[in-house]
Order: sequence, then structure tokens, then C-alpha cells
Amino acid sequence: MTKKIAVLPGDGIGPEIIEQAVRVLGALSLDLELETQPVGGAAYDVHGHPLPPVTLELAKRSDAILFGAVGDWKYDNLPREHRPEQAILGLRRALGLFANLRPAVLYPELANASSLKPEVVAGLDILIVRELTGDIYFGQPRGVRLLDDGPFKGERQGFDTMHYAETEIRRIGHVAFQAARKRGKKLCSVDKANVLETSQFWRDIMIDVAKEYPDVELSHMYVDNAAMQLVRAPKAFDVIVTGNLFGDILSDEAAMLTGSIGMLPSASLNASNQGLYEPSHGSAPDIAGKNIANPLATMLSAAMMLRYSLDQSAQADRIEAAVQSVLQQGLRTADIYEEGTTRVSTSEMGDAVLKALK
Ligand code: IPM
Ligand code: MG
Repeated sequence: MTKKIAVLPGDGIGPEIIEQAVRVLGALSLDLELETQPVGGAAYDVHGHPLPPVTLELAKRSDAILFGAVGDWKYDNLPREHRPEQAILGLRRALGLFANLRPAVLYPELANASSLKPEVVAGLDILIVRELTGDIYFGQPRGVRLLDDGPFKGERQGFDTMHYAETEIRRIGHVAFQAARKRGKKLCSVDKANVLETSQFWRDIMIDVAKEYPDVELSHMYVDNAAMQLVRAPKAFDVIVTGNLFGDILSDEAAMLTGSIGMLPSASLNASNQGLYEPSHGSAPDIAGKNIANPLATMLSAAMMLRYSLDQSAQADRIEAAVQSVLQQGLRTADIYEEGTTRVSTSEMGDAVLKALK
């Protein structure tokens, strides 16, 4: 049966890296129908909105979305509802993509790229499961209001609301426990239960969900400590589950541990395994159009797409093996280049992966 893929290249380096990932998908002789639409700033330029109806409709009727990146300094002065970031937030909300999987894996070939000592990070393989449609990101009410009493009476106050409903916590808990079950069977739930009511509730529910997974060891950690432990002894973690805001911060930190954010894919899934797949890095407008960006994270995101949304894990394995092979051959884009390796462009990296696939 033909599977429909929405291809949303976006801004900055998005189009170049997506082009290479699409070449890789094309080489697998799968029954895929790809359709491309603009998103982010590129969509604002054409349609006056970062997530115009043509793009949203395409995403809704697709089995999976392959997403590049959004954002460019030239849109910084737009009102927030028209900024490129609203496209990704809008897709998450509209499609109910509540489960964000962000692996942080250190490839042995790239051990020197980390800013941490090689022995601290060698063999690092952790997975952050970030809740993606709740928390203070989407909580209502929010805005700016006039205070009518208290010490700041008469002043304006900016405010947001953090909340999690029980179902939201349970479903991300199940995703995380199931992921841990397939890996090292250790799950660390990260919260701020010493201060926040939302976090205490989160922790209570996680403890309850854990009863269904006696084979998985659940621990809890406050977010400030987790940030510290991630740089002190990152290999002590297996799977981390956390809310939207803490997950945003910790996943960037975890990605940087590997020293090669250009290598890391991510998946955002809903209850029916429809998913959005994107590299963990951003749109890097400073290097856009120069054919130097690293396309590997996008190719690995395409592999995650095959595995999670299209039930093609053998083909996903093929892409991952091809990426491993080009690294072993010593081929490096500028972001992961070191002396003694061969520097290649975005498109040359694409050529090499295609060759390795054969
Ligand atoms: C991410 C990004 C987004 C987020 C931005 C672009 C809205 O930082 O995917 O981590 O905060 O979730
Ligand atoms: Mg982020």
C-alpha cells in the first residue's frame, strides 16, 4: 500500500538537508508518495502564514511528515503568531504529536567532537522522551494582564500556566516505559517536585504507571540535578522522561554532549503512530545555501520515520548502516571535521550514503 509522506523543508539549511534525505528514501524502492509544501518563514513569504492551510492539510492526510527546520533572523520582528516557530508548535498541536523521542548517541568515530572528556561520553546512548503538547507551552491562561492588587498593583504582569492532566502524564509515561523496556530497562523521570504542584502530580502518576512495568527500574530526579548529572556522568542514564519545558532544555544539553548535533534525529508521535520526523538541530541560516550543512541527522530522521510510522525497520537499519559506513570511511561535513578525515559537502555526503546503501 502506498504511504503518503509530507515533505516540509522549511527555512535555512532545511531544503538542502531534506534534498539529501529524499534521495536516500528514493534509493530504497519503497512504495512512497512524497508531496512537498513550504513551512515556517518560507511559507510566510508565499502564503502569509508559517503553517498555511495547504501545508497543514497535507500533514493531516499523510502517514508521516519529514520536516527540515524553521527559523531565520529575518523573521525576528514579526508578531509571534507569524514567526516560523509557530509552524512546528501548530503541527504538534494539530496532529496531537505528544511523544517526542530524542536520542543522544555518540558515534565512536566522533568521540573527539564532544566538549567532555572522551571517557565520560564514550559509548553514550541515551533517549530523552519529552512530552510535547502540554505543560507551560500550551497552558491557558497566558498573556499580559493588569494587576489590581498585591505589591505590584497597577503594573502589567506577563504570565503563563503550567499544567498536566492525568491522561497526558500517563500516555507519555507508557511511551517512556515501553522504550526503556526495549533498551536498558532504566527510566529516570525528571521534574521539579520540590517546588511545583504540577511536578508532584507528574511524579505521583509516574509511580502509578510504573506498577505496569515491574521489569523497568524507575527513578526520579529534580531538573536542576538532572542538568548537572547529564554533564557529570551522562552514561548513568538510559531513558529520561520529562515534561515539555524541561525536555526542551535537557534535550539540547544531551544533544551537545555528543558534540555532533548535526547527527541527531528526532521523532514526534501521536496516538496512532503518525509522526513528524526532524533533525534535532535548527535551521542554521548563517550557513544556508552553501552546501556545507550535515544531512545525516535528517537521513537518520527518515530512518526513524521508516521504523516508527511505516513499519519498515529493515529499511531503517539499512540507512543507519549506510551512515555508519560513511563515518567509518572518514567522510565528514564541516561540523564534524577533524584532522585526518575527509571534508565533504552536503551533496557529496548524500552521494556517499547512496553508494553505501548499494
Ligand atoms: C525544539 C525547539 C522548539 C521548542 C521551538 C522552535 C518552538 O526548540 O523543538 O526543541 O521549543 O519545542
Ligand atoms: Mg528546543
